[in-house]
Amino acid sequence: MKYAHIVGWGHYLPERILTNDGMASIVDTSNEWIYTRTGIKERRIANQQETTAMMAFEAAARALAVANVHPMQVDMIIVATSTPAHMFPSTASQVQDYLGASRASAFDLSAACTGFVYALSMAANTIQAGAAQNVVVIGAETMSRVLDWQDRGTCILFGDGAGAVVLKGLSIPGGILASTLGSDGSGGDLLSLPVAYHSPLPFAAIEPSLNGHNRGTLSMNGRQVFRFATRVIVDSVQEVVAKAGLTMADVALIVPHQANVRIIETAAKRLKVPEEVFYLNVDRAGNTSAASIPIALCEAVEAGRLKPDDNVIFVGFGGGLTWGASLVKWDVTPPEVYIAERNWRDPRYVWARVKSRMRRFGRRLEGWLSGSPTPEARLRKTDKR
Ligand code: UT7
Repeated sequence: MKYAHIVGWGHYLPERILTNDGMASIVDTSNEWIYTRTGIKERRIANQQETTAMMAFEAAARALAVANVHPMQVDMIIVATSTPAHMFPSTASQVQDYLGASRASAFDLSAACTGFVYALSMAANTIQAGAAQNVVVIGAETMSRVLDWQDRGTCILFGDGAGAVVLKGLSIPGGILASTLGSDGSGGDLLSLPVAYHSPLPFAAIEPSLNGHNRGTLSMNGRQVFRFATRVIVDSVQEVVAKAGLTMADVALIVPHQANVRIIETAAKRLKVPEEVFYLNVDRAGNTSAASIPIALCEAVEAGRLKPDDNVIFVGFGGGLTWGASLVKWDVTPPEVYIAERNWRDPRYVWARVKSRMRRFGRRLEGWLSGSPTPEARLRKTDKR
């Protein structure tokens, strides 16, 4: 019997900070409105170099360092994201390449803000089934690239960042003890992010009903999502605690999806637990969608909020609609020095990039020697037709 233990964790936040006052210079809002309605003071905004894949890589590299797991020992990489740069190659495949994790399978998972909890559950099941030993689970988002910066009801909420954990299969009981996941597609219109395809035909010619629709930006019915969130947090937490055969008194910490302090206050009241049981960093990071739980987890560990043998619950909710929770027995002591440096320049990862480019070059050379046209030549040919 294998148990899936969290043995490493890491996160990455862009350096650029956008405060509520800064937000008020973009849309008609104020620090007072944002703070009192959401608890957010500031959020991080990625620069051009800080892509979803790059931030996911940084978080994963830090988590592997904490876990003392070499990238070559990784069997699987799952990236939960709603903001990939491409539908394919997946963000996870890009991370696999950046890490030089050449034995790993890799795929993205789409469950909006619940994505990390879904991915954690998939990873734990895979380990428990004996199909993988070391799995990297990442939540990574560049929400700033999909926001409608004229919609003050949504753009003030979100931020960018990435968080990751390393799950390891061990025969010692513990780790992910129980999970619960759910979805209600009838609420899909309450929170959505349409995909923006660059179709060569005007989109209206194919699907006239979408003519004039603001494609490719996030939209949300805030009040309805608020009601949904407070209900499913309570239900998911109660369900996962029961599944693990525990009671609320056994739970040391809840790391919720960081959307709004008011949602957590309401959920805490309904669960009859003190608000302090919930770890919150929404004031500093805003809502980073699938990245919010692993980022908050890392900060909670750094702040000394988790001790070996503590039971911690991750609970998420969001677009789909989706929701879910995992109950984890925390059984590792954090390393004395928390790894926070940039990994992009680490010789191990520089070498991974060199090897990747050499493989690409090798493929081009092979194509050239065998006379097959380059992608550019193929495009020129299509243009002529
Ligand atoms: O991760 C995804 C999950 N998402 C969530 O969990 C979000 C859940 N929902 C919420 O957190 C809240 O609904 C919001 C923070 C989005 C909005 O708070 P609210 O208390 O539900 O406000 P509201 O949408 O009902 O708007 C109240 C008023 C409106 O004005 P009127 O019509 O009463 O005159 C809005 O136009 O506040 C106005 N408003 C704003 N005013 C200043 C909306 N956004 C802003 C703003 N600044 N940014």
